[in-house]
Amino acid sequence: MSDKIKTMKAFLGICAGILISIAFAAPLHCAGGASSTEREKMKYTLKELEYPETALEPWIDAETVRIHHGKHQAAYVEKLNAALASEPSFNFNGSAGELISKLDAVPESIKTAVRNNGGGVWNHEFYWRGLSPQKSHPSDELLSAIKESFGSFDNFKKLMTAAAVGQFGSGWAWLGVLPDGRLKICSTPNQDSPIMGAKISPCGMIPILCIDVWEHAYYLKYQNRRADYAEAVWNVINWKRVSDRFEAAVKDGKAEL
Ligand SMILES: [Fe+2]
Repeated sequence: MSDKIKTMKAFLGICAGILISIAFAAPLHCAGGASSTEREKMKYTLKELEYPETALEPWIDAETVRIHHGKHQAAYVEKLNAALASEPSFNFNGSAGELISKLDAVPESIKTAVRNNGGGVWNHEFYWRGLSPQKSHPSDELLSAIKESFGSFDNFKKLMTAAAVGQFGSGWAWLGVLPDGRLKICSTPNQDSPIMGAKISPCGMIPILCIDVWEHAYYLKYQNRRADYAEAVWNVINWKRVSDRFEAAVKDGKAEL
């Protein structure tokens, strides 16, 4: 083999090596440029909905679902991750629900951010999972608990709707199970949640259903008519899931975290 051919082969080998390096390096660059440590800290992700964005029409319109889930809830996820990344000494590996139900363990430096954004993450996960386009009914056990606590199913709906409409400003209306097994309707401001404990929420119950009454939950379709939205939500409640939550709360004393 002549020296000229050897030189040409060596040159081609170097070129091939460079091309392979670029091919493997490119996906790492496309991953956002974050280091592996930074990626590890991005703990929480936006959970997918269990149904298409159009599924709750006409009661909750697709555009509202798309922005509510894809923008508002996503922003809570992003801000929660940012807060946790700013306090690397706090290493928590549980779900968002487990995190906000143990706020006392969260460092003071990020406690408010975790309360607001962790609450924003979990409350929304709980809200979407409590809705469904499939018609369902409360279990016999849940229905009799509702009747026992509120007199009738219609009266329960009336009281829960009133709690949703009456919450001043942004917040949530909740149905939950008290320690003695009775049901209670409660509301919380901002992104506070009954699972945050007595220091933050006076509800004192295990939540099994919630209605988001932030304006972003209804304004595109209902504008200022929160009461119309609060009435419409009853058409898409996932009573099968709410009944399962009720059973778990009564039997095991546990919330769906
Ligand atoms: Fe919301």
